[in-house]
Amino acid sequence: MFGILASSVVCVMLHGCLCTQWSIQMTENITAVSGSCIVVPCSFTVSPEYDTELHNTSVALWSRGVVGGPAVLKTDQTVAAGFKGKILGDIKSKNCTTVFTELPQGFKEALLFRVEGPANLKYTYPKELFISFQTGSAPQPVLSVSPRGEVRAGSTLTLKCRAIAPCPSLPPEVRLWPQMDGSNSSPQVYSEQGVMFVTVTESFTVTPNHYGLNVTCEVEYPRRNGRESHREAQSMTLNILYGPHNTRVLMSFPSPVPVGRLLNLSCLSEANPPVTSYNWYTVSGDQLVLRATGQELFLMTSWADRGLYVCEAISPNGQERSAILALEVETEGPQCSMVPYVLCGVLACLYVITLLVEIYKYKRSHSQPLYTFIVNILIMKMQPFLGVVGRGGVMRVGSIFVRIINATIVLWFHTV
Ligand SMILES: *[C@@H]1O[C@H](CO)[C@@H](O)[C@H](O)[C@H]1NC(C)=O
Ligand SMILES: *[C@@H]1O[C@H](CO)[C@@H](O)[C@H](O)[C@H]1NC(C)=O
Ligand SMILES: *[C@@H]1O[C@H](CO)[C@@H](O)[C@H](O)[C@H]1NC(C)=O
Ligand SMILES: *[C@@H]1O[C@H](CO)[C@@H](O)[C@H](O)[C@H]1NC(C)=O
Ligand SMILES: *[C@@H]1O[C@H](CO)[C@@H](O)[C@H](O)[C@H]1NC(C)=O
Ligand SMILES: *[C@@H]1O[C@H](CO)[C@@H](O)[C@H](O)[C@H]1NC(C)=O
Repeated sequence: MFGILASSVVCVMLHGCLCTQWSIQMTENITAVSGSCIVVPCSFTVSPEYDTELHNTSVALWSRGVVGGPAVLKTDQTVAAGFKGKILGDIKSKNCTTVFTELPQGFKEALLFRVEGPANLKYTYPKELFISFQTGSAPQPVLSVSPRGEVRAGSTLTLKCRAIAPCPSLPPEVRLWPQMDGSNSSPQVYSEQGVMFVTVTESFTVTPNHYGLNVTCEVEYPRRNGRESHREAQSMTLNILYGPHNTRVLMSFPSPVPVGRLLNLSCLSEANPPVTSYNWYTVSGDQLVLRATGQELFLMTSWADRGLYVCEAISPNGQERSAILALEVETEGPQCSMVPYVLCGVLACLYVITLLVEIYKYKRSHSQPLYTFIVNILIMKMQPFLGVVGRGGVMRVGSIFVRIINATIVLWFHTV
């Protein structure tokens, strides 16, 4: 109440009784791409006694520079070189909405609105309008994110890309990318203090994978007469706070690990801010037993190190455990390495038994000298190993062997 009173007192002091009666509502500054257009939404009021002068013969115009400056645009036509546009609004309805399609190169002055009636109505509004066409560039879109700053994984983030739409007949195309899973709004058009904007928004649930993601808000302004459109973009990198993520164990040697090896188990995890500590557990029944701390766990592998391991990464934003790692230790002792020997032993025994059987048979027949018989039996038994039954070279090598063995055995029998 007091505020309204005070401001109207100030108002009366500054402008006499004019301030509520003569007014104009429009934006102050507006920018667009050359080759496009600028629509300036505008409305005005006149002192009530001049209302009757607002009809179809009254004139509205824009003049440059200062009060009384040269006119550039009149109700229905452009009147100065380099300017193009039209007063779209109905002056009778106090609507001074105007479209500008061209300004002289590098124009950097204010424009003032003036209304003239057939009789005494002649008034230039002191509020200035700065408009500019940017050659070779377009107005920057504005990318905003809420909540601002760092965002916790799991919360909802809204990205908003906003671009001015100065020329409704050539609206800009506004895009946000990359496209996230979540809700994407279709472009919204709205007016703020007499200026049109187009926005697109995107809301999504933040995950650690969004960390460091570069999001871009891009606007493309089409231009008249098929001229190449203008693009502008703004990017920002998302800063996501998240607890340990993708926690896993890396082994310096694949399982099973031989006994007596220096094994390095490394706990890897990603977090922002980074992981501050690591714990190593072994799984015992359905319980975890703390075994060590630190990112790496070194083991000089022994049979006792077999088991299930879990690492845990801890950061200020949470903790996460790795999947269970089964560590197998391979001993070089009896278990597996015995098998071939046992097998060989059994075969050797069978071999000797068959030999003995042959000798026994011999004892009952006596038809040959003992050593010749033994040699022949041996050679017969060895044939599969020596390859005598084979062809060519193998046969020859085999027979050389046979002879050497024959000779050795013959010699042995003679000396015994
Ligand atoms: C409009 O532009 C002028 C000159 O660039 C600047 O001084 C003024 O603060 C701007 N006004 C608004 C409302 O942005
Ligand atoms: C202008 O207004 C007058 C009276 O209001 C009307 O007689 C006349 O036809 C109008 N002229 C045009 C061109 O609309
Ligand atoms: C003023 O005129 C423009 C152009 O004809 C129109 O789009 C706008 O709606 C009018 N404004 C009002 C307040 O009537
Ligand atoms: C983000 O992406 C835009 C467009 O691809 C690129 O121009 C910009 O340099 C990137 N910014 C960062 C910080 O990577
Ligand atoms: C242990 O393994 C990790 C991951 O492979 C490696 O970065 C680290 O340097 C290793 N440490 C040693 C002492 O070998
Ligand atoms: C082994 O040597 C003896 C005596 O020299 C000979 O009689 C016998 O035929 C030989 N046996 C074979 C298979 O060569």
